[in-house]
Amino acid sequence: MKNNKLYIQMFSIHGLIRPENMELGRDADTGGQIKYVIELCSALSACKEVERVDLFTRLIDDKIVARHYSQPMEAVNDKFRIVRIQCGGRKYIRKELLWPYLDEFIDKTIKFIKREQAIPNIVHGHYADAGYVASQLAEIFGLPFMFTGHSLGRSKREKLIEGGMKDSDIIKKFKIDHRIYVEEDTLKNADLVITSTKQEIDEQYGMYRDNHLPVYKVIPPGLDLEKFYPYYHDMLPDTEKDEAELYAHAAVLQELNRFFIHPDKPLILTLSRPDKRKNISGLIKAYGEDIQLQAMANLAVFAGIRKDISKKEENEKEVLTIMLLLMDKYDLYGKMAIPKKHDIEYEVPELYRIAAEKKGVFVNPALTEPFGLTLLEAAATGLPIVATRDGGPTDIIRNCQNGILVDPTNPENIAAALKTIITDHDKWRTFSKNGVINVRRHYTWERHAEIYLQKIKEIIDTSAEAKMNIAVPSDPIGKRMAGLNYFIITDIDDTLIGKENDALDDLRTLLRENRDIVGFGVATGRNVDSTVEILKKHDMDLPDVIISSVGSEIYYGNTLQYGHGWDSHLSNKWDRKKIFDLLKQIDFIKYQEEATQRRYKISYLMEPGKDRLATIHNLLLKHKCRYNLIYSQEKYLDILPYRASKGKAIRYLSYKWEISLKNFLVCGDSGNDEEMLRGEPLAVVVGNYSRELEKLRGGKNIYFAGHENARGILEGIKRYQFVNKARKEMAGT
Ligand code: GLC
Ligand code: MG
Repeated sequence: MKNNKLYIQMFSIHGLIRPENMELGRDADTGGQIKYVIELCSALSACKEVERVDLFTRLIDDKIVARHYSQPMEAVNDKFRIVRIQCGGRKYIRKELLWPYLDEFIDKTIKFIKREQAIPNIVHGHYADAGYVASQLAEIFGLPFMFTGHSLGRSKREKLIEGGMKDSDIIKKFKIDHRIYVEEDTLKNADLVITSTKQEIDEQYGMYRDNHLPVYKVIPPGLDLEKFYPYYHDMLPDTEKDEAELYAHAAVLQELNRFFIHPDKPLILTLSRPDKRKNISGLIKAYGEDIQLQAMANLAVFAGIRKDISKKEENEKEVLTIMLLLMDKYDLYGKMAIPKKHDIEYEVPELYRIAAEKKGVFVNPALTEPFGLTLLEAAATGLPIVATRDGGPTDIIRNCQNGILVDPTNPENIAAALKTIITDHDKWRTFSKNGVINVRRHYTWERHAEIYLQKIKEIIDTSAEAKMNIAVPSDPIGKRMAGLNYFIITDIDDTLIGKENDALDDLRTLLRENRDIVGFGVATGRNVDSTVEILKKHDMDLPDVIISSVGSEIYYGNTLQYGHGWDSHLSNKWDRKKIFDLLKQIDFIKYQEEATQRRYKISYLMEPGKDRLATIHNLLLKHKCRYNLIYSQEKYLDILPYRASKGKAIRYLSYKWEISLKNFLVCGDSGNDEEMLRGEPLAVVVGNYSRELEKLRGGKNIYFAGHENARGILEGIKRYQFVNKARKEMAGT
């Protein structure tokens, strides 16, 4: 970007994202990751090396969620924007259902990039879904790509299986197989993977086949230290709390007092989603079975937000029910609080401070804890911690020296650690002070951003170096397409290439000389391999775009990058097998050779004959098939998805790359070109056209060239003054 500053595009697609009043804990998709990406972007945007940070997420316009999430663009500060892109409709749907719509998200992001005329220096995806989006954009634009998993499919699957869920149910509910497949692929493409802990690299990424491929960097997330200030500040004479904080403080106290007989006792506090892995029941057992501990301290369990447990999801319902049953079993009435809700923004920081004031302890008893953000928050306010020794807390206690690690499966062990801290006042004070000081040393977003920027400079430099070492500069197709506003697209057989090929040299020269302003593509019935073969045979450069197999596939650039966006667009209502099976009963068509058969194209040979086409249509319509049938040159019969054709593929390109249809010059010779020649684009029919195109004569933007093949194309370009127009526009802008 300008003056060597960085433009970073961040992707975090699912859940409800907004910069303030985050609804963390509202559902499984709106949790810690939301806060993480917002704070990361804010911290980065505060750095002078950064020109801009855009955070891309899904646009949601749904009555069941706040209007806020339907804003397409939100400026958080003058260098940080949230860009909301619509995909898969406008309803709020859970992340597992978003997979089919990610290509739509990518296409619309490309449009955004083109419109803004600003290509980022780096893309960074958060979670597998956004990892996919960012990796595709990285490939299209030739950019370095960063990934943060936040959590990974293989570990989730393992834990669910341990929890007794059947693999087939896991696949059905969580689409976990697809997620893992995408994660595997992401690791192959990522230039850098950021994790919060070392354990994440070893134990979670360690489960992946290509886990050794990317470079990893552990950068713990930072804390909002203004929010999590130490508890004793409130006791100093000149601290001023604002009204919202005062209110929250009072509300939390009031809530706790509803439960406790002796509210002044030290408070053992835990705070987590009602998830089995969080092992809330283990903590209640530890407390319930230890009369001494009950005598010296109260227990407060904040397990998410609930109205009616019976309406919760199955696994949450189970955790909450067990919590109630244990409370009853150990008769913890008057000693244990189970508040139904808490507000994250103001109440949670107050909660830690209240527990610290009462000389209490924060506990994270999870069976495994990938990171442990709440432990850091507690530490920052001066509340000592007891934490599971499985996962991130090991790093935290090593850095902060502010508590005790325990075996989460051993209730006595948990109880003993709690008692040690509560009864030994010197220890409590040391832990409290260490937490306050060391969190401020190791876990700030400023520190995170500093290391982050250092790392991305390294990967941008290496990828620039790698490019310099390639003899021919690689020209990532995205960068190229984003700069183009004019396009020539031609059919191959009998249009570009035919009997008269002596004009090919001139056409090749014209295209090369104007490469900076005019893009070039072919649209053909051939498959991609045979397209490349014939172009090579005639010494034509590989085009920017190949629309092959009658519009059922799109490929970009020298690397023949597959157009996933088009693929997923075509997949709608396409049932290849059903059509294939139905057409077996038609005896006057012959299945073409295998190489011509594609996922989105079924091809036959058919002699013309009375009622033949009608017979086929009737059969397919009777069985409610959706398709597009194209019959050409009195012998080829292609059945495609209803959204596929050469013409529709051109319209898609126009949409995706924001190139006006009027700026396409399209050339053809026969019936299967007819559709792409009609309408807005500037059409050229070459002199050797077949008679079925006669009906186009006199139509809008249709030019019948006198010359044949490539010479006819050149004639058309001249007639429309196409290159001159492109040049003029270039000069004008
Ligand atoms: C090409 C393809 C063939 C198709 C025909 C018409 O010849 O190889 O499969 O049917 O074009 O589109
Ligand atoms: Mg042709």
